[in-house]
Amino acid sequence: MAKELIRLVDCCMAFDDELVLDHINLYFNDSEFLTLLGPSGCGKTTTLRIIGGFTTPTSGEVLFDGVRMNDIPPHLRQVNTVFQRYALFPHLNVFENVAFGLRIPRTVEENGKKSKKKLPEKEIRQRVLEMLEIVSLKGFENRRISELSGGQQQRVAIARALVNRPKVLLLDEPLAALDLRLRKDMQSELKRIQQQLGITFIYVTHDQEEALAMSDTIVVMDQGKIQQIGTPEDIYNEPKNAFVADFIGESNILDGIMHQDYVVEFFNRKFKCLDKGFQPMEPVDVVIRPEDVDIVPVEKGQLRGTVTAVTFKGVHYDTIVDFKGFKWLIQTTDYHEVGKEIGIVLNPDDIHIMHKSQYSGMFGDYSSYSEEYDEINDPTYIEEEDGNLGGRGDEE
Ligand SMILES: Nc1ncnc2c1ncn2[C@@H]1O[C@H](COP(=O)(O)OP(=O)(O)O)[C@@H](O)[C@H]1O
Ligand SMILES: [Mg+2]
Repeated sequence: MAKELIRLVDCCMAFDDELVLDHINLYFNDSEFLTLLGPSGCGKTTTLRIIGGFTTPTSGEVLFDGVRMNDIPPHLRQVNTVFQRYALFPHLNVFENVAFGLRIPRTVEENGKKSKKKLPEKEIRQRVLEMLEIVSLKGFENRRISELSGGQQQRVAIARALVNRPKVLLLDEPLAALDLRLRKDMQSELKRIQQQLGITFIYVTHDQEEALAMSDTIVVMDQGKIQQIGTPEDIYNEPKNAFVADFIGESNILDGIMHQDYVVEFFNRKFKCLDKGFQPMEPVDVVIRPEDVDIVPVEKGQLRGTVTAVTFKGVHYDTIVDFKGFKWLIQTTDYHEVGKEIGIVLNPDDIHIMHKSQYSGMFGDYSSYSEEYDEINDPTYIEEEDGNLGGRGDEE
């Protein structure tokens, strides 16, 4: 059984009467890699700051091992933080940057007496070198910070935060400043370090791919509220509402009616699905992932539509198909030219049903996506001032 370390109970945060966290209830387990994922401004950093002790919630409780910690300062919590701008000391070498936290005398209690004690130099050296090895910087201890690449600096920041052996490491978009290739490398590095040390990572990102690749648990947030908590597979395969379905990957989201368990109607046609437990004839949102749709000859299709745009994406073609005015995104490795009529087949496990929510109707229609391409393909379309649409020959 996983052991619970931290729990947020009904945490709210208001700035000037504006509610930015709205009754957050969440627990964090020992040795877990948990990611707070959501768009900019949804409250991720505020949540992390509450856990770290840098701010106090307006209402609600912060519990560590069941004990209320709301007003306990950061250095008395068993938590350390890696910020996006990692603020290393440029005048100290790698070793001293990592050793910094270990050199601060700490209060110890012996026989009821409190005194300040320094760690022996030998122990400091051993712990710093051990940590540099864990972050793959063995042999770098005498380097200056300015001689390191962005990725190496990020590793120093992580080593510095881990050398104190916190139970929990908080990471606020730590890879956002790195380029894509380096970011991917650091994602697997961080995952390895977390597993090797067996400590809890609470990770903040707005990047859904990053969250899917690294996390044991993903908490999807929007507008100060938790929208869904689950494993990466849960969140991707069983999104709870249209916001989650749209934010995690691409989704076509249609209006449907759930006739009975395992039977849904959309586009005036009944489809078999794997979902149950809805009211008879309940209006629902139907999610269909672009990679799940099979394109077949028109006469074999359950639905028929017309291709309105095709974009080559390397592995597949993003193909926009118009079904009676509603445009879907379909990802397929076969090329279907614009204007072609096609049929599609949906298997029961290609269809996912969600309850209607405040997000219904806001996402999952690719009409505007395809209009951009229509405009590019339309020779009579006049581009707006400063717009690049249709522009050729103006590469940088
Ligand atoms: N100190 C503050 N004073 C006023 N508003 C704040 C403060 N900190 C955050 N906010 C607001 O709270 C909301 C959530 O911010 P934040 O937690 O930083 O979001 P995220 O990290 O998800 O981008 C935003 O609307 C932000 O403007
Ligand atoms: Mg933030």
